[in-house]
Amino acid sequence: MCGIVGFIGQEQAAPILLDGLARLEYRGYDSAGVAVVSPRHEIQVKKSKGRLQVLSDMIHGGADVEGCIGIGHTRWATHGAPSDLNSHPHMSEGGKFAVIHNGIIENYVEIKEFLIGQGVTFRSETDTEVVAQLLEFYYNECHDFFESVGRVLRRIEGAYALGILCADCPDRIIAARKDAPLLLGYGEGCSFLASDVTAIIRHTRSVAYMEDGEVAVLTTAGIQVYNALGDPIEKERHHIDWEVSAAEKGGYPHFMLKEIFEQPQALRRAIMPRLRADRVYLEDMKLTAEKIRSFTRIFIVACGSSYHVGVIGKYNLEHLTRRSVEVVLASEFRYADPIVDENSLVIVISQSGETLDTMAALREAKKCGAYILSIVNVVGSSIARESDDVLYTWAGPEIAVATTKAYSTQLAVLDMVGLAFGEVLGTVSEDEYAEVVRELRALPEKMETVLKSCEDIQKYAAQYFNHNSVFFIGRNLDYALGLEGSLKLKEISYIHSEAYASGELKHGTISLIENGTLVIALGTYGALFDKAMSNVVEVKARGAEVLALTTESHRAEMEKTVASVLSVPDTARMLQPSLGVVPLQLFAYYVALQRGCDIDKPRNLAKSVTVE
Ligand code: G6P
Repeated sequence: MCGIVGFIGQEQAAPILLDGLARLEYRGYDSAGVAVVSPRHEIQVKKSKGRLQVLSDMIHGGADVEGCIGIGHTRWATHGAPSDLNSHPHMSEGGKFAVIHNGIIENYVEIKEFLIGQGVTFRSETDTEVVAQLLEFYYNECHDFFESVGRVLRRIEGAYALGILCADCPDRIIAARKDAPLLLGYGEGCSFLASDVTAIIRHTRSVAYMEDGEVAVLTTAGIQVYNALGDPIEKERHHIDWEVSAAEKGGYPHFMLKEIFEQPQALRRAIMPRLRADRVYLEDMKLTAEKIRSFTRIFIVACGSSYHVGVIGKYNLEHLTRRSVEVVLASEFRYADPIVDENSLVIVISQSGETLDTMAALREAKKCGAYILSIVNVVGSSIARESDDVLYTWAGPEIAVATTKAYSTQLAVLDMVGLAFGEVLGTVSEDEYAEVVRELRALPEKMETVLKSCEDIQKYAAQYFNHNSVFFIGRNLDYALGLEGSLKLKEISYIHSEAYASGELKHGTISLIENGTLVIALGTYGALFDKAMSNVVEVKARGAEVLALTTESHRAEMEKTVASVLSVPDTARMLQPSLGVVPLQLFAYYVALQRGCDIDKPRNLAKSVTVE
């Protein structure tokens, strides 16, 4: 996600900010900018779409921007496409404030409307600009930088790491944090701010991590932190002894592991802004209730793991909407002469928004008059631009080739589409709707619990990594989950792996089961647990070694038959794969690690497949 850096000291700030931003490039970004307070107490903002080099060339490596206090930002677009205007820092209309932000201000629409009503003119499409404009609005009332920040923080909802400059107070930067990473760096006669330690490690290794609700005032003399009640507090300082290269992966050995562990946070970003009280609001979707009612056919079209999200989506959407939903591989859809017309909805799922087959399928469907709703991670990507409607997943940049956090957020967004459609069509019961919303809220936390059990998974990976062939079996949502678990394992560990609907075993696959064959039995779908158990018994009887995945409530029952059991917390039936996928991702990761594979860049695979 967005990268943040801030500096106040005796040296020219801009070169230090550019260097910090360069260290954050690995996070992925689409634009960059800096703001520096000049000796004449004016805020100068320099920003541009594209690579950091464009910005650096524009200001001659920072030499052109005078001043020893500033903030810098690399943007990974969420609200508004990548553009010069949407890049950070954002200035207030009167030029008093400059703001950089990582996160999402959930109630920005309401605040923007309020400020427009007060005569404020907005320049960008971002949620962040409301922070800059609101700061100036309050500052005009109270003429106090710190107090204005406090008022803004009480008014905004959502997630934020903020760095703020005020032209009238050229001796300080104010920073604030809630649900987005932010740390403080202590130097000799200087202070730093950064979204991760990589940005400042060349200048200081003494840091403190900000907690939610805290506000920090950075000066050349030091940093004062205040808690959520406004009381000054002492922060514990940490000494960083990592190598810089390790810090770029946030201390994780691989991007894939880092991204697996980022999933709860990514889910919060994808889910929380779309829930209010006990209802789902897809305010970023233009589809009207009338249009939703007019669809006679629903398709889900995608490739790879995005297609697997679609397979789960088919079960869940059909259940919630009582409409038939077809899920089709994009590479098949485009040549299949699909029966699509003006009354069809085509839901296109793509992390990158650039997959060629998915793009071609979208165009094919559009030609036939279908309405295109896409679920995309990369803002402003080709698929997003050519769709009638886009729901972004806000997972942040994904660097490992094997997708993890994009998959999880796509799934959550698609489930929310199902709920919203079910409500419009009157096909979902109030009880189920309420249960799923409640469980969507709880999902990030439950996923954190699953991530804590990673030692168990490591143990099983060490036990089974030498197998050459693996079968994933399950029914209904567990079958759909198995497709993704199997793909994860084969793509990064190069073990031959297949996923089967358990009921199909007897029609062929069971002939491949012999002494020592590894079967990963998925039994998280409560309604069919007994059937899943029968299949486990069948493969065991033919000599299979079984590793089972089930829910906590079924664990004891599973342990009566299987020795190697993993479990995840219980949740709403339709959300169970969202938790189940995490142990399977971790299992694939640790198996690949044991086998010494190149996990982040598996052989023959690409992150974004832009050829047919
Ligand atoms: C590649 C990636 C997969 C991804 C698939 C579809 O195969 O390695 O992780 O699921 O493309 O990509 P998309 O960007 O359209 O979701």
